Amino acid sequence: QVLREGGLVAFPTETVYGLGGNALDEDAAKKIYAAKGRPCDNPLIAHISCAEELEPLVKEIPEAGRRLMEAFWPGPLTMIFPKSSKVPYGTTGGLDTVAVRMPDDPIANRLIALAGVPIAAPSANTSGRPSPTTADHVWQDMNGRIEMIIDGGPVGIGVESTIVDVSSPVPAVLRPGAITMEMLREVLGEVTIDPAILGPMSPGVRPKAPGMKYRHYAPKAELTIVEGEIKEVIAKINSLAAEKLEEGLKVGIIGTEETVGCYPAGDVKSIGTREDEATIAGSLYGILREFDNDGVDYIYSEAFATGGIG
Ligand code: TXA
Ligand code: MG
Repeated sequence: QVLREGGLVAFPTETVYGLGGNALDEDAAKKIYAAKGRPCDNPLIAHISCAEELEPLVKEIPEAGRRLMEAFWPGPLTMIFPKSSKVPYGTTGGLDTVAVRMPDDPIANRLIALAGVPIAAPSANTSGRPSPTTADHVWQDMNGRIEMIIDGGPVGIGVESTIVDVSSPVPAVLRPGAITMEMLREVLGEVTIDPAILGPMSPGVRPKAPGMKYRHYAPKAELTIVEGEIKEVIAKINSLAAEKLEEGLKVGIIGTEETVGCYPAGDVKSIGTREDEATIAGSLYGILREFDNDGVDYIYSEAFATGGIG
């Protein structure tokens, strides 16, 4: 009822908590942008509860889109389609395309089905902050700004859905996420990656997902990732931490189950185990938020491999 009347409801999905509003109602989109403090050229993803709900939102479903739907929906995959006239520009940030996703979470699915409309849902964080993986994170950012939060416990995956543009001749990944390059290649063969997301952005290069050009998922502290052979990484982090601690600053350290014992000083947290990288993805945003709450000035983290969920 809240959604049908144009209000906002935060709800769990398998990736991160979403901040939902009616995707066909421009005023609801405006409320979402206001609650998040998000620039309104950064488009929203329309969430649906079953495959039949896709057709009215899009002009056509390209072959690549059909194959990906079959393989990964419901699930952590968002696809970009040419939009139909039903979808307002207020939802798509003025673009002629629309992002659509069918989440694989029983609460999300039931909520969307009961609302009877597609639900626009960005991550339910204040723009720029790490995304929420628990209802408590949502409460911290959205209390007093939205009508309702549905608490479904901690999410399963903890990082966002992968975004694939299927409206271009060769499907392109616009945002990496829980569906990996390896999984996409298996279904599609050829897939490209938007060059703007691979490294530091050079002037003039514009990411095709407008959201990727803004600072995002950022903790308040300055975060440094240290790469290399693990023994050297530990030594380097310890010496960087010692320097800052000596200056009287607060230091956070991100290690793993395998290494947390190797850091004698600082606010040391384990992000999970290298044996199972899904645990690392699952803890990432929560740990960054804990460091925000602890008021640390600098965070040093071990690096992780970039294949798979990495
Ligand atoms: O896992 C997820 O996808 C979560 C959960 C709640 O479903 N949602 C999410 O939404 O991450 P949000 O709004 O935080 O991120 C949406 C991203 C932004 O980078 C935006 O620029 C991009 O999707 N996007 C949306 N529509 C687009 C379009 N038509 N073309 C290109 N990029 C688009
Ligand atoms: Mg987001």
